Amino acid sequence: MKQFISVDDIADPLGLVKEALNIKKQPRASSELGKGLTLGLIFMNPSLRTRLSTQKAAQNLGMDVMVMNVGTEGWKLEMEDGVVMEGDKAEHVKEAAAVIGQYCDIIGLRSFPGLTNREADYADHMINSFIKYSGRPVISLESAVFHPLQSLADLVTIEELKQKEKPKVVLSWAPHVKALPQSVPNSFSQWINQTDYEFVITHPEGYELSQDIIGDVNVEYNQNKAFEAADFIYAKNWSSYSAYGKILSEDRSWVIDETKMSLTNNARFMHCLPVRRNLVVSDGVLDGSNSVVIQQAGNREFSAQAVLKRMIEGMRNG
Ligand code: CP
Repeated sequence: MKQFISVDDIADPLGLVKEALNIKKQPRASSELGKGLTLGLIFMNPSLRTRLSTQKAAQNLGMDVMVMNVGTEGWKLEMEDGVVMEGDKAEHVKEAAAVIGQYCDIIGLRSFPGLTNREADYADHMINSFIKYSGRPVISLESAVFHPLQSLADLVTIEELKQKEKPKVVLSWAPHVKALPQSVPNSFSQWINQTDYEFVITHPEGYELSQDIIGDVNVEYNQNKAFEAADFIYAKNWSSYSAYGKILSEDRSWVIDETKMSLTNNARFMHCLPVRRNLVVSDGVLDGSNSVVIQQAGNREFSAQAVLKRMIEGMRNG
């Protein structure tokens, strides 16, 4: 595996889910595999879970890890070709990525979208520049378009908790005060599409995701109706794709609370975190016994480890 940017980089996404579940049983079973290799974790934006879980995963495999918050501690990067660099950007991504590639065997990169120019964001310039110029395998730690490590952990969590072969999984938009990317819902949809679960997305009109990315998914604009008989509720805010980056609704009737959850089949509540309490989800739901957000975050470690393990095995086997 040369890169892990989206579900399309994996020949057998469900096989990778199984591998992560196996790793969870014995996380240190391959503690020699990554010896002598260095993982570089490069952050243009903040992180808690992705940073720590991927670092732990690499340590479980015996790798050395370097972390740099380039977004706050590094030189501001120029992304355009052929420009006179007389502004505030002191280093071009061509050199930055190539230099990081000199120190690291595998690179993980987080880079959020600007949410003003859809075409530029969806071209995913930062991650594609690192793939092009670093000369190393690159793992997305969340790009402008996708968050595949999160989605892999989400699927791992559903697989270990599901009570029936084909659970009903509902991805629900929820209110937020900030415009957020579509990366988590894009990615979640792509990964769920690999399964034979019943999958429904519910959101107010205007929040449709890119069909080119998520495919032909069942959308239900009535949140209460979508929640009926659901086995898993996955809450997430995202900004509009069509009116790109805009907040079109702040309708608090979309907040996921105990009344909403009572419409479901005793569904488990999921969220990728961080989550704003009583804006996205009520305290009662988040603190309730059906909330699995901590287990879900815990599974980030084993999911990242499954990806790193595959990547290292690929490198070792030439
Ligand atoms: N879910 C997630 O990616 O969390 P962080 O932003 O804290 O890494």
